[in-house]
Amino acid sequence: MKTKGLFITLEGVEGAGKSTLIDFVADLFIKAGHETVKTREPGGTKTGEQIRDILLDSNNIALTDNTELLLMFAARMQHIEQVIKPALIANKVVICDRFTDASYAYQGGGRGIDVARIKTLEEWVQGDLKPNLTLLFDLDVEMGLRRAGKRSEADRFEQEEKDFFERIRSCYLDRAKLESDRFRIVDAAQIYENVKEQIQKIMHDYL
Ligand code: TMP
Repeated sequence: MKTKGLFITLEGVEGAGKSTLIDFVADLFIKAGHETVKTREPGGTKTGEQIRDILLDSNNIALTDNTELLLMFAARMQHIEQVIKPALIANKVVICDRFTDASYAYQGGGRGIDVARIKTLEEWVQGDLKPNLTLLFDLDVEMGLRRAGKRSEADRFEQEEKDFFERIRSCYLDRAKLESDRFRIVDAAQIYENVKEQIQKIMHDYL
């Protein structure tokens, strides 16, 4: 199946501001006349959102790390088939709040699951589908957790210790180095206006 659209993902530790900035990114494409789909993981479909509820529910303390990984990819499979691929085939711009880099960072870096196992799932679920561009919103973990803490009650992930998020941040940065053609790092510790300016500069080449 040939895809023609543009697939952009947003990644980062908690409190990096992705969920707000995704609107800004999408608006740039909409204003430039592109048909744009804004979505998120885990989630993005009815089934995916149900899986998200299981994954984020802080009462699910018995959920094992491997179950967590499989649920992430189950939601992703549904999302790819139902939303992402059809949109890309229709030449749309798909902007997704988190994707497989989050599985490497959280389940691999954070939980310590073998990277080879994640790669096997990635190849099975995605085939040759990969983001064209990934914006990594990077900031100090403590600052991110402070920001996230102000928002709402902590979900199952947000209840983890600082070390967990330090491992996630360093895994993201390692991936960005390894795949420097696909990744662009945004300094998310800056004030909102400044972060938007950085995004605008990066997007210039894609609009
Ligand atoms: P959000 O906070 O960006 O909405 O994402 C929900 C949580 O899910 C967040 O703590 C990161 C986590 N997550 C993973 O652990 N692995 C994944 O593959 C994805 C997509 C998200």
